Amino acid sequence: MALTDKKALLVLPWVFVSIASFHGAFAQSPVFACDTSKDPSVGSYGFCNGSLGLSERVQDLVQRLTLSEKIGFLVNKGVGVSRLGIPAYEWWSEALHGVSYVGPGTHFSGLVPGATSFPQVIHSVASFNSSLWEAIGKVVSTEARAMYNVGLAGLTFWSPNINIFRDPRWGRGQETAGEDPLLTSKYAVGYVKGLQSSDDGDPNRLKVAACCKHYTAYDLDNWKGVDRFHFNAKVTKQDMDDTFQPPFKSCVIDGQVASVMCSYNQVNGIPTCADPNLLAGTVRGEWNLNGYIVSDCDSVEVLYDKQRYTKTPEDAAAQTIMAGLDLNCGSFLGQHTPAAIKAGKLNESAVDNAVSNNLAVLMRLGFFDGDPRSQLYGKLGPKDVCTHENQQLALEAARQGIVLLKNSAGSLPLSPAAIKKLAVIGPNANVTKTMIGNYEGTPCKYTTPLQGISASVSTVYNPGCQNVACAESGLQLDAAKKAASEADATILIMGADQSIEAEDRDRTDITLPGAQQKLISAVANATNGPVILIVMSGGPMDISFAKIDDKITSIIWVGYPGEAGGAAIADVIFGVHNPGGRLPVTWYPQDFVTKVPMTNMNMRPDTSTGYPGRTYRFYTGDTVYSFGDGLSYTEFSHHLIRAPTTVSIPLEEGHPCLSTACESVELHSSKCPNLTFSLHVKVKNVGDRHGGNTVLLFSTPPRVHNAPRKRLLGFEKVHVEPRSERAVEFRVEVCEGLGVVDEFGSKKVALGSHTFHVGNLVHSLSVVT
Ligand SMILES: *[C@@H]1O[C@H](CO)[C@@H](O)[C@H](O)[C@H]1NC(C)=O
Ligand SMILES: *[C@@H]1O[C@H](CO)[C@@H](O)[C@H](O)[C@H]1NC(C)=O
Ligand SMILES: *[C@@H]1O[C@H](CO)[C@@H](O)[C@H](O)[C@H]1NC(C)=O
Ligand SMILES: *[C@@H]1O[C@H](CO)[C@@H](O)[C@H](O)[C@H]1NC(C)=O
Ligand SMILES: *[C@@H]1O[C@H](CO)[C@@H](O)[C@H](O)[C@H]1NC(C)=O
Ligand SMILES: *[C@@H]1O[C@H](CO)[C@@H](O)[C@H](O)[C@H]1NC(C)=O
Repeated sequence: MALTDKKALLVLPWVFVSIASFHGAFAQSPVFACDTSKDPSVGSYGFCNGSLGLSERVQDLVQRLTLSEKIGFLVNKGVGVSRLGIPAYEWWSEALHGVSYVGPGTHFSGLVPGATSFPQVIHSVASFNSSLWEAIGKVVSTEARAMYNVGLAGLTFWSPNINIFRDPRWGRGQETAGEDPLLTSKYAVGYVKGLQSSDDGDPNRLKVAACCKHYTAYDLDNWKGVDRFHFNAKVTKQDMDDTFQPPFKSCVIDGQVASVMCSYNQVNGIPTCADPNLLAGTVRGEWNLNGYIVSDCDSVEVLYDKQRYTKTPEDAAAQTIMAGLDLNCGSFLGQHTPAAIKAGKLNESAVDNAVSNNLAVLMRLGFFDGDPRSQLYGKLGPKDVCTHENQQLALEAARQGIVLLKNSAGSLPLSPAAIKKLAVIGPNANVTKTMIGNYEGTPCKYTTPLQGISASVSTVYNPGCQNVACAESGLQLDAAKKAASEADATILIMGADQSIEAEDRDRTDITLPGAQQKLISAVANATNGPVILIVMSGGPMDISFAKIDDKITSIIWVGYPGEAGGAAIADVIFGVHNPGGRLPVTWYPQDFVTKVPMTNMNMRPDTSTGYPGRTYRFYTGDTVYSFGDGLSYTEFSHHLIRAPTTVSIPLEEGHPCLSTACESVELHSSKCPNLTFSLHVKVKNVGDRHGGNTVLLFSTPPRVHNAPRKRLLGFEKVHVEPRSERAVEFRVEVCEGLGVVDEFGSKKVALGSHTFHVGNLVHSLSVVT
């Protein structure tokens, strides 16, 4: 979403607030159509008749609309059709990690002053716990429905952001599920299900409508003068098919998402919102989207105005709608579609199509079923927002995402009884809003790290720097050193905030900002007890200096941990919670960003230019920390129970690979044999504390077709009691799990030896014909 699009942001933020005087003083009511209490005649309309089928109702409505009324359903700020009893509806609401005030469809008020603010997505993802993501989505949609019922929120939420965190500098990486396509796919499916799944189990009904964005290959905002509105992402067919597209495909097919948003950027010279192959061809055609395609705000204007992709605005309107766009965040299609039709550049039937897709989603949400307060979610209201249970889940999510990166013997966990004074230092030590990241809402309440820690021990606090930018001139070096030298242990809470990494703000360096390193090293050097460095950030940081500094006994990454972040940090520090989070992205050294331009989209290395490739799947250079890294206060070991050593692919008679040696066989999805096998693994907790273990199954395929050197095939989060064990089964589909995408984007199964890794466990599997 363009926060730069002030126009779209500022229009009519009050669409939803209608005063229902008959409900007493200033009660706020939801916006909905087919209100027979206001006008009994609407009951006779087919589109209001719940006993008709969905498409029949949609068709009934569309054929009643004039062209200009239809055009009102092409833009986010819907105007409604009063003659049919259809009120104005604002499509744009957001709920990335809690109901958000970003987007004009949602507001907080005296009635609902805040909503549960979960950790920023990059943090929740580090839990590697799919049921957590679904549980969060479910709470968010309950709070959203509760707010809708009192006129404070819409029903269509443009979340989640499922772009791949391709480059560590990206300011919006914090919103994503990290760098891995499988992890991102699982996150997308879990969160979308939590948001959308209807309480009555009807797959055609939506609790709220989610939106997977930004389709596609969007992961650069503003870097050294290159901005997302002008950027042409040059993406190879192979990277497209095995990195950028899989999360969207999963979101549409497995998550059954009700909407996909196209991005600002071009992909290989074509703006995504005007690309018929990407929209009508892939999302609508191949993946069979049951929902609507919406533009970013306002990518249609951007492709005309900034990219000069079309000669006239009418061409931009015609081309995007014909490409498969249904809804425009912004006003561009409202202004220019009539002229496009008049000029014969667009048929009204294409508009009918788009409007039908939009209205079908509103219908599935119950918008045309009369007063929602007498429907499935009718009892939800302000009392269901920020409940104790919901806030407990925010705390639980914050705990589960915390990643322990370094822990020397005798450092963590700290025993509160053994500590007379704890020094808490750093510009992020007592922050509130920083903890919730962007696309935020007003939280129920905050627990800052200092408050969380001070609940158990006596603390002395010094921010060390004026803010995270940590200008040398504002350093409080002596005070910080003094505080640390007089304490039994020291916790430094450092990192970033939205002034360092944000929408429209990519980083140029990935070291800690300003003089933070200087402060940390000096404080660490001034102490005798344990020194715990906590990095609060969305993107990775090159903290090599701290990794090798023996004075720094522990390092923890806490993402942006949400409203309960401080309590969760304290729980980890004092051992109330045994950390089990894992890094969802590679932490590169700073020299990665000095060598690699952010604009180079290639995932695969290029030995001829020295380009090192990106993410753990392709990059082989030094890392500060790796994808999947994360320690525990206990120790786990992994053992193979059983797995096949050979898998054979049946080929039809006369297949060339039966007579000649092939390195791979082509398997179109239609021809892919329905073959699966299982890997049974045992996880033992060999330490003396209970804890969660993230069991990551990686595979290394044979080195054909520039395949990834390593890729995540599956993951499972299990809780194991001390001195006990748990069995985990991974089911691997042969075509998915052993498949690779070749240089032309075709799916192949690589023949030969595939190596599987789970922790230290290694297993080889031979694939033969
Ligand atoms: C709704 O549709 C059903 C099925 O066609 C029909 O029997 C019924 O009369 C309709 N209800 C109204 C109020 O028109
Ligand atoms: C409009 O529809 C007519 C008749 O189906 C078709 O021939 C024409 O190509 C369409 N025009 C556009 C711009 O799609
Ligand atoms: C810590 O932050 C909280 C919340 O903003 C504030 O009330 C409190 O005064 C701060 N504590 C210190 C010691 O600055
Ligand atoms: C660490 O402390 C010692 C003694 O207090 C001092 O000599 C040295 O310069 C300090 N090193 C750093 C990097 O501050
Ligand atoms: C694959 O096989 C399983 C188990 O035999 C079956 O349940 C499933 O429907 C099959 N899937 C396809 C796509 O044929
Ligand atoms: C995963 O998250 C759910 C929901 O919070 C929780 O109940 C479960 O214990 C978590 N699993 C593990 C292994 O931590």
